[in-house]
Amino acid sequence: RIAGPCSLVIFGVTGDLSRKKLMPAIYDLANRGLLPPGFALTGFARRDWASQDFGQVVYEAVKQHARTPFRQTVWDRLAEGFRFVPGSFDDDDAFDRLEATVEALDRERGTGGNHAFYLSIPPGAFPVVLKQLSRSGLATADGERWRRVVIEKPFGHDLRSARELNDIVGDVFPEDSVFRIDHYLGKETVQNVLALRFANQLFEPIWNSHYVDSVQITMAEDIGLGGRAGYYDGIGAARDVIQNHLLQLLAFTAMEEPVSFSSDELRAEKIKVLNATKLVGPLDETTAHGQYTGGWQGGELVRGLTEEEGFDPNSRTETYAAITCEVDTRRWAGVPFYLRTGKRLGRRVTEIAVIFKRAPHLPFDATMTEELGQNALVIRVQPDEGVTMRFGSKVPGSQMEVRDVTMDFGYGTAFTEASPEAYERLILDVLLGEPSLFPVNEEVERSWKILDPVIEHWAEQEQGPDPYPAGSWGPGSADTMLARTGRTWRRP
Ligand code: BG6
Repeated sequence: RIAGPCSLVIFGVTGDLSRKKLMPAIYDLANRGLLPPGFALTGFARRDWASQDFGQVVYEAVKQHARTPFRQTVWDRLAEGFRFVPGSFDDDDAFDRLEATVEALDRERGTGGNHAFYLSIPPGAFPVVLKQLSRSGLATADGERWRRVVIEKPFGHDLRSARELNDIVGDVFPEDSVFRIDHYLGKETVQNVLALRFANQLFEPIWNSHYVDSVQITMAEDIGLGGRAGYYDGIGAARDVIQNHLLQLLAFTAMEEPVSFSSDELRAEKIKVLNATKLVGPLDETTAHGQYTGGWQGGELVRGLTEEEGFDPNSRTETYAAITCEVDTRRWAGVPFYLRTGKRLGRRVTEIAVIFKRAPHLPFDATMTEELGQNALVIRVQPDEGVTMRFGSKVPGSQMEVRDVTMDFGYGTAFTEASPEAYERLILDVLLGEPSLFPVNEEVERSWKILDPVIEHWAEQEQGPDPYPAGSWGPGSADTMLARTGRTWRRP
């Protein structure tokens, strides 16, 4: 679907996210013909730029990061709709100028009075920008003319601050005009969890505690945190990605079938499953946290977190976090969901592994099944997107020896179309007013409610996070955490 007439205003347009993700995504959408002909993009920031300077910044970002090939005609048409308004967030005049700019665009470009405001700014600046949008009249929708706000995580740093933030946003925009970005929901492979489960007859009958032993959700990254101290120090891995991306992956994996894929029905099921999700304790045995130290990674000697620029040398910020949850429903009773994430791990991989119970009886000589593990269905979110099924098979030969083999589906081989980048999909959905892939306030608050006790528990401990060398698979305490239940982490 093509978005109707509208314009987009980005606050924080000089930031990394804007350059690496938002601007390229806007160009890619234009290139695919999904933006309306008069689409306009206004940047707002404290820079002494004219609209041409802004155009040049977008141009460079597009050249460097866009997914689709550069086409001059598409670019020229898009760039005609670029405007830049210099100003700081507390400057009433600047917002009045912004209002005048946006209104002029309605006339010049036919944007129909429909405007989306993208807050790609530190959360501390949300209240002032929202207040300005309200004061200047920019937030006011009327009749057919819509106004929407897009907010980037972090949505608070605990339940209390998330509630405060939701109240502040809610004072200015009605909930159905608020689009909270969790870019994992924009990933094809994440949406495919729902297709896999609900478009097939094969998986759903065994998708429960009768057959599933445990679920492991892993988001491993090889990158370190150089350059991100301002955001990350004091925040840590649990708040950065478990509260949002990993709990959303859990929700997709564990939820019941929605009545339809309308946003209300989908969110209702997600909220139900998040409401049923509980931590398993005691937390010093069922959680683990770590911090990377220097080490070899990919043939390169890299620094530890506390030697990275800007980090407190005594920082207790965790760069690795693992937790154990259970979903208290009939379907999932007693099945542990292990969630883990870390920076500077062995390699970059995100996956959901559903691990099945062993067959109740093996009619083989025990020596013939030594290399037989548990059946597993692994959804590879990234990279090498696809799904793998692991099961036992007879080893060719005169004996009945069985061992694990895999059956593989890869996006790269099954489809010729390349997947759109997550931000492309999400920005288009904002412009279309399609809210399914955006978490609502209740999901955000519920996720904090699940996670808060873990973060408090770690903060109360005398000892900080356990060290692990860069390039490894995390601290030994995370292995011990699983070993206590007789399990081991998958080595992706
Ligand atoms: C962001 C986190 O939400 O997701 C980052 O703040 C993380 O710390 C990033 O690196 C990972 O995103 P992706 O799409 O590369 O898995």
